Amino acid sequence: MLEDTSFAILPENKQDTTGNHYLDIGNVLSIEKQQDMFQLTCTNGFVTLCFYTESILRIVMNPTSQPDLNLSNAVNVKPVDISFSEKDYEGALLLKTKKLEVKLEKKPLRITVKDENSRVLVEEQERGMAYQNNGEIRVWKQMEESDHFYGFGEKSGFLDKRGEKYEMWNTDVYAPHNPETDPLYESIPYFMTLRNGKAHGIFFDNTFRTFFDMKSETDRYSFSAEGGQLDYYVLAGADPKNVLEQYTYLTGRMPLPPKWAIGYHQSRYSYESEAEVRELAANFLERDIPVDVIHLDIHYMNGYRVFTFDRDRFPNPEKLIADLREMGIRVVPIVDPGVKQDSAYPIYQEGVQGDNFCKYIEGDIYFGDVWPGKSAFPDFTEEKVRKWWGEKHAFYTDMGIEGIWNDMNEPAVFNETKTMDTSVMHRNDGRPTTHKELHNVYGLLMGKATYEGMKDQLQGKRPFLLTRAGYSGVQRYAAVWTGDNRSFWEHLQMSLPMVMNLGLSGVAFTGPDVGGFAHDTNPELLVRWTQVGAFTPYFRNHSALNTTYQEPWQFGEKYEAIMKKYIQMRYEWMPQLYSLFFEASQSGLPVMRPLFMEYPDDERTYNLNDEVMIGDNVLLAPILSPGVTDRAVYLPEGEWMLWETGEFYEGNRSHLIHAELADMPLFVKKGTAIMQTNWISNQEKETKQRSMKVVAGNPGDVYSFTYYDDDGETYAYEKGDYLKWYIEIKSEKDAIHVTILDKEGNYLPPYKEVNIVLIGLKPSQNVILNGKMTEDTQQLKLNVL
Ligand code: GLC
Repeated sequence: MLEDTSFAILPENKQDTTGNHYLDIGNVLSIEKQQDMFQLTCTNGFVTLCFYTESILRIVMNPTSQPDLNLSNAVNVKPVDISFSEKDYEGALLLKTKKLEVKLEKKPLRITVKDENSRVLVEEQERGMAYQNNGEIRVWKQMEESDHFYGFGEKSGFLDKRGEKYEMWNTDVYAPHNPETDPLYESIPYFMTLRNGKAHGIFFDNTFRTFFDMKSETDRYSFSAEGGQLDYYVLAGADPKNVLEQYTYLTGRMPLPPKWAIGYHQSRYSYESEAEVRELAANFLERDIPVDVIHLDIHYMNGYRVFTFDRDRFPNPEKLIADLREMGIRVVPIVDPGVKQDSAYPIYQEGVQGDNFCKYIEGDIYFGDVWPGKSAFPDFTEEKVRKWWGEKHAFYTDMGIEGIWNDMNEPAVFNETKTMDTSVMHRNDGRPTTHKELHNVYGLLMGKATYEGMKDQLQGKRPFLLTRAGYSGVQRYAAVWTGDNRSFWEHLQMSLPMVMNLGLSGVAFTGPDVGGFAHDTNPELLVRWTQVGAFTPYFRNHSALNTTYQEPWQFGEKYEAIMKKYIQMRYEWMPQLYSLFFEASQSGLPVMRPLFMEYPDDERTYNLNDEVMIGDNVLLAPILSPGVTDRAVYLPEGEWMLWETGEFYEGNRSHLIHAELADMPLFVKKGTAIMQTNWISNQEKETKQRSMKVVAGNPGDVYSFTYYDDDGETYAYEKGDYLKWYIEIKSEKDAIHVTILDKEGNYLPPYKEVNIVLIGLKPSQNVILNGKMTEDTQQLKLNVL
């Protein structure tokens, strides 16, 4: 491990960052139009261009042959028919859609993409597309001083990635994550540039080890890969939300999760026996702390063999699962890809007999060491194998399990390279491909196999999948947690930009291990982390072997009471969160988002790391350091109400806010509304109560939002069994109007009405509900029917 010593900075190890050793694509020799594609033959390679929509342009460069446009594991849409104009002038070809303007200069080939207002999105000058003879490909783009970069999936460090360099290669990192720990478990080769308040995106769809460099040069950034084609999409924006809609149009959106999956999850590596799990569950109920899920980590298995239970530790898992279900708790077991080499183990036998494991080209199975010892790995690149693996999950679903936790699916292997040999040859549905090329999609395809298998077996119920590794598109199958963090305050701090950037990368359902995985947590950290966790899209407390137990009651009553309050709050906010998850499933917008997404013109939000928004009107400014009870909070334009106290604060400036350990500063924007419910008990989470809390605004304020609800666990909503209200809140000098502009859906919820609570109503103001003046402002209700 010489990289951990000064050897790493030996003069001979200096890297060449000039790019001089790359061969430029050269001049355009011919352009041929085939249907809606432009095929360019250049001095040193081939390039294809095509519009996917008015706002999305795909560019593919292949050094040696005509680009292959059908290799993607992430994109599952085809180009739509659009009209565009084409003009040849002054040695350049100009293409124009309603949203994009593309200029191809021919000598040498340089591509500039502008939007319909002639705003430059990407531009190549001195350098453009290039490659090396070893197969590396790269492209440079001009970088402006005002550029800020976001996305890149799961990266440590600050929100704004300007001045950073990143690598995409799914990696199991147990060593403490710090700002330069890279790569991590997920590879999402996509980013968004914010330039003078307007945004555009680039998705580099290449599954090899890829790199993004916004650091080495001052006026150019580049992205590159160790092999394959230079295949990328330019997304026009023009605001951050449009970019995300465009990116998730290409790579897919998260399915609407079952409501239970967005509740509180309790985990530990490991709850080691049935008795321990029962005691844990009983504790939650006795203490009236809400919990939806208990995770079973690797100790539930027989010798870490997936699809087995250790019957000594867990003598009757069927009954355990049924009993917990009565208590309102679901069980989510871990499933890793490594299948123990054991000729007496049916899964291994089937895997060998069915030819389902990853192999070398010569035909030998690849074996690597993981928890069970020497193990084989299913070749998820093959449809037949995905089906086999998916079907195996009947083992779990037959017991009443509806959620699975995929781990170690980078795939992680206990060796120097941390993974499978890159020379392993995946079958890849008849197109044999090396692990070097498909490494980054192994986890994605395992997720696809698992999710689709479970969906088949659950007979109309929505499955839940949690994964550690993934690639662009992972959101179609799984929620993502950020892997093995530690119980460090720095990791609580880092989790916010990480979750925000994952959200900006299309993965809306994410969160860190609350309390920290490795290292011993402490009560103050756990409380502060739980306060944040109550609002992170994915909310799971998880800790490692040999660390302090960190269930909410482990540190005494004082701390337990605060954590209980926040976990219950998660459930009180469920209608609001669920509506936001619905939005994520429709448009790809994240539940937890950076402030700049709502205020792209406000520079003070561009690298704001310690504040987040939930939807478009709720702002959290949690305390993220020990011993701190006061913090500066920047509020963007408007006025904001501190939820706990009802005090109003002016926007466009910072305030010093006090927050004792029991408090987390949470603001709701004046003139907006949120939906809430109350907490009853773990068995009755779907309560009969709903309330809309309206914060009266200033004259002229108009706010609209969508309230969404359904049964929370089936697909009946796809057939119209949902409730959708388009609501508008309009504030005037002498009245507040609450209007349901439109209603959709046939769902009849257990509640018959929605109570309206008006906050900050002036005595001189009336309430006008759906156009009618209401006398008694204490008894405001909207009927569901
Ligand atoms: C990995 C996972 C962790 C899990 C452990 C044992 O380290 O990241 O969450 O608890 O493996 O399965």
